[in-house]
Amino acid sequence: MPRTIVAGNWKMYKTQAETREFFDAFLPLTHQVRSDIVIVVAPPFTSLHVAHSALHRHPRVILGAQNVHWEVQGAFTGEISVSMLQDFGVRYVIVGHSERRMYFNELDRTVNLKVKTLLAHGVTPIIAVGETLAEREAGQAEARVVAQTIAALDGLDAGQAGNVVIAYEPIWAIGTGRNCDAVEANRVMGLIRNAVPGLQDVSILYGGSVKPDNVAEYSEQENINGGLVGGASLDPNGFAELIERAQHD
Ligand code: PGA
Repeated sequence: MPRTIVAGNWKMYKTQAETREFFDAFLPLTHQVRSDIVIVVAPPFTSLHVAHSALHRHPRVILGAQNVHWEVQGAFTGEISVSMLQDFGVRYVIVGHSERRMYFNELDRTVNLKVKTLLAHGVTPIIAVGETLAEREAGQAEARVVAQTIAALDGLDAGQAGNVVIAYEPIWAIGTGRNCDAVEANRVMGLIRNAVPGLQDVSILYGGSVKPDNVAEYSEQENINGGLVGGASLDPNGFAELIERAQHD
């Protein structure tokens, strides 16, 4: 059975002081959340230290990161390695987010390298896939996300593939308030689950304008095992409410 995961992707938001403030308000609210729901927060690198200290006494919330380099060390100015992230207790890393593919030249090939490095270090990649509006309108959404999934998992056997998390994030739904219909998202996510062997028990998250008032529609769907949440993860009360509403029997 895939586990339900709700992961907050803070993107380039929150200073250290704001991070501390968030966790002071958020952590007490997570006591109401069912223990089988995995809560991940992925702050910017500069907030990992503060977040790690806050979560040290509160293992209910797991620390994530938004990116990583595929090499473990080297002359890569401005980059960060998996072991540097592990110093802060990071256990999940988002790879291939559409903003990184779009603005920072992230390629299917580098996503694949990052996935392999993370798995080799026991860190779970959250692999983001998704189509543009133009691809959707041209009837290419399915082919696009299936191709991204296959490329991200290239060279892994079914057992290794079973250790990833995948996030389906239609690019046109990210930060736009124009969320993808839950039934349609579920359909595409079913194709992702069957894209390669080994994904039967993998958590597949929906991302793209997930809010407290629409999250339940997604969690009711068979192939949707939680959410990757941007804007709505920044407010502690709103994010806690969203997580509670993501609970589904
Ligand atoms: P959003 O972002 O929830 O603000 O649409 C989701 C994401 O980019 O992961």
